[in-house]
Amino acid sequence: MLTILKTMVAQIDVLETMSPIEFLSFRSFLANASGFQSWQFRELEFLLGSKNPRAIERYAEGSAERAAIDRRFAAPTIWDSFLRFLASLGHPVPKELLARDVTQPIAEHAQLQEVLISIYRAQKPEASLCELLVDFDEGVQEWRYRHVKMVERTIGFKPGTGGSSGAEYLRTTLFRPFFPDLWAIRSRL
Ligand code: HEM
Repeated sequence: MLTILKTMVAQIDVLETMSPIEFLSFRSFLANASGFQSWQFRELEFLLGSKNPRAIERYAEGSAERAAIDRRFAAPTIWDSFLRFLASLGHPVPKELLARDVTQPIAEHAQLQEVLISIYRAQKPEASLCELLVDFDEGVQEWRYRHVKMVERTIGFKPGTGGSSGAEYLRTTLFRPFFPDLWAIRSRL
């Protein structure tokens, strides 16, 4: 999965060989088609815990895409599964986290951070799993950054074909980790 992500980031180099004028020569054919329509991207975000209920409305009720997104919205995130796994190994994961409403955003949790710090300090094998989650989290943020820069150099600050303000909107999605606790603990390790 991480290798796929790295490839997605690297292929942006190829798209960036296209000049703004070249892109403009076919942009009108896109009409209102946009990355906003990617249900796989929303599913990935939902799976990782970033669940914006407004994103669901973009998919027609009764469509296969809507069914997939609705299912993913209600399902536990990777973070929830990870916390259950830690609890199954005997780590004192706070009960309220194991029973949390999985449709809500993943917020920093001071008590959980103590658990994670003890895993790192004891160099438990679970720490490697934490690092893989950080790799993935960083990888998606890297993709978002490269995509915004590609958008800025190709269409500047023109609005997107999907109806957003374009680069201005995309910038608001930067530097927002999926797993905030794994980043918060690092200055204490
Ligand atoms: C020069 C090429 C590209 C331009 C100018 C561009 C532009 C944009 C813009 C302006 C948006 C904001 C939504 C909107 O209003 O349309 C957007 C969103 C998005 N684009 Fe692109 N894009 C390009 C290439 C790509 C590629 C190659 C991919 C995937 C492989 C991609 C995937 C996405 C996704 C998933 C979103 C939704 C992001 C989010 O909501 O956080 N885009 N794109």
